Amino acid sequence: MAAIQPNRGATVPDVLAVGVSSEPQLEWLAKQHIIAQDRIQLKKLSHMRYQHPDLEEITTFMIATRLPTASPVQDLSEAPGGGSLVTITDPEGFPFNVVFDQKPTNVEVSHPEKVVLNYTGEKIRRREFNRFEPGPAAVHKLGHFGLCTQQFEVLLKFYTSTFNITPTDLVYVNTPDDQKMVVTTFCHIDLGETHVDHHSFFLSANPKGKHVHHCSFEVHDYDTQQLGHQWLAKKGYKSVWGIGRHILGSQIFDYWWDTTGNMVEHYADGDLVNGDTPIGYVQAGSESLAVWGPDVPAIFLE
Ligand SMILES: [Fe+2]
Repeated sequence: MAAIQPNRGATVPDVLAVGVSSEPQLEWLAKQHIIAQDRIQLKKLSHMRYQHPDLEEITTFMIATRLPTASPVQDLSEAPGGGSLVTITDPEGFPFNVVFDQKPTNVEVSHPEKVVLNYTGEKIRRREFNRFEPGPAAVHKLGHFGLCTQQFEVLLKFYTSTFNITPTDLVYVNTPDDQKMVVTTFCHIDLGETHVDHHSFFLSANPKGKHVHHCSFEVHDYDTQQLGHQWLAKKGYKSVWGIGRHILGSQIFDYWWDTTGNMVEHYADGDLVNGDTPIGYVQAGSESLAVWGPDVPAIFLE
């Protein structure tokens, strides 16, 4: 990768950003003996539920040997959008809902106006002033969630072989005998050539206990995030970590505790990947979490 100057950012192709410590997705899947097209094909993350193109197929599949913990199909015809839902329990006991045939609402999705930015060498905003109103950050969508697990390899195998969930980055530690032991993975929903979020799901090995780490909601832009941060701070809510810029996924992040003690995140400006993006191998360490921002608090890693 061309050297990025100190105190600068650059937008570079995925293959260059990932670097030489990488592997094509198809090779990784083949090594795990995973046949990509045999997996349940999820479409998107939505309220922590997924859609599936063929209910009959998935139901048969779940009731069969691979997913013995699948619940009976629940009718959602009374719920907004209708459809059906199956809850499966993963090998560690986390419930995972798959939604089929839920119809989107007819409400048109509107996006906030794009704030025009002036750069040192490109000043396109002329006789126009940027003005903002304080307020909470409007959420566009649920972007991702992640689990801390005591059965990292079992869950990695379960999710990547059962669903079209494929690693984007594999974060490793070096073992005493100089092997790379993967301890965290950021995964995308594999829709082939279609560009998707860098991660919709992540897993992190945690010897202390299994729990949901956080879920994360996309907001419009950096200013929205800063205004939302100030809003929450003024209301007396408790910040966990942020605002900062992640390296893996590039998102600008902002983590908060909700009033029950769950960690939730606002993010903006995340990377997109597709099936051609190589899987990156990245050494673990707090310095791999953020390129700028406050020091990562210990609680974030627990
Ligand atoms: Fe996140």
